[in-house]
Amino acid sequence: MEIKTGFVLGAGIMGAGIAHLMAQNGVNAILVDVDEGILKRAVGNIEKLLTKKVEKGKMTDAQVKELLGRIKISTDMNEAANADFIIEAVIENVELKQKIFAQLEGIAKPGVVLATNTTACSISEISSSLKDPSRVVGMHFFNPAVVMKLVEIMPGVATDPAAVKTAKEFAEFLGKEPVVTNKETIAGIASRVLAALLNEAVWVLEEGIGSVADIDKAMMMGSNQPMGPLTLIDLIGIDTHLAKTRTLYAKFGDARYRPCYLLEKMVHAGYLGRKSGKGFYDYSQNPPVPMVLK
Ligand SMILES: NC(=O)c1ccc[n+]([C@@H]2O[C@H](COP(=O)([O-])OP(=O)(O)OC[C@H]3O[C@@H](n4cnc5c(N)ncnc54)[C@H](O)[C@@H]3O)[C@@H](O)[C@H]2O)c1
Repeated sequence: MEIKTGFVLGAGIMGAGIAHLMAQNGVNAILVDVDEGILKRAVGNIEKLLTKKVEKGKMTDAQVKELLGRIKISTDMNEAANADFIIEAVIENVELKQKIFAQLEGIAKPGVVLATNTTACSISEISSSLKDPSRVVGMHFFNPAVVMKLVEIMPGVATDPAAVKTAKEFAEFLGKEPVVTNKETIAGIASRVLAALLNEAVWVLEEGIGSVADIDKAMMMGSNQPMGPLTLIDLIGIDTHLAKTRTLYAKFGDARYRPCYLLEKMVHAGYLGRKSGKGFYDYSQNPPVPMVLK
């Protein structure tokens, strides 16, 4: 099936990025969220990114208008009936995802792939709420979705190989380099390896071994990381990272993924990273200032 229209559920960091990516590649994107304010903010953020491209001479005003014209925002899940490919990017909560996929199954056209951008939820657990779980597949974009080349495609136990093939081909169409895991897993490859590394950085901070700035500097200068681990957690979202490590810890029981209590305190305080303005850094200032967290 030719993918002319994609449906993206959840207009947060990832959903907005995926809708932007679709529109950039000529696919009509229907971006749906429960929160109208978030939808407007998502489009506003995409517009800001595009305006920068115009300023740099990389895009014309007409191209920006055309791209934005391909993104339709809505709070109505039933819009999924008009899509040729569906991708869910709501918060990392398996019960919510199960509920949503059961609804999507009733709305989507027959044969349309139902993909989830989940980081660490089990594909089989998400699709257990469906009459036919064979069209559910993990399709994990990386943040920022427009920039990062990797997309990990992860089948569940019952996923039809045809759904995997469609997701892989769609990722390639969007200019990505997909990697397909051989079997169902939690958090795929890149996120799982990264989760252990990021977690260790938070423990090093918690143990008082280094400051926020020095931990990031050490990893950038000493292991050639393009950004420090704490800056990266801020970009991912403290809540999203916490949810991921919690799931990995619960599933594997491995201390490498044991979430540090500091993350929980930060989430309670509303320090969710870049998206809320404060995390390991304070983003109200430019450049962002490292926080002293107690
Ligand atoms: N942040 C990252 O770096 C990253 C990277 C890859 C994958 N992911 C995964 O992508 C998914 C989304 O993450 P995010 O960082 O974009 O989260 P986010 O918190 O930025 O956005 C989640 C959005 O889901 C919306 N939402 C909640 N309930 C909804 C519902 N019932 N219907 C429609 N929308 C609903 C919220 O309003 C919010 O806008 C998660 O599963 C996450 O694990 C995140």
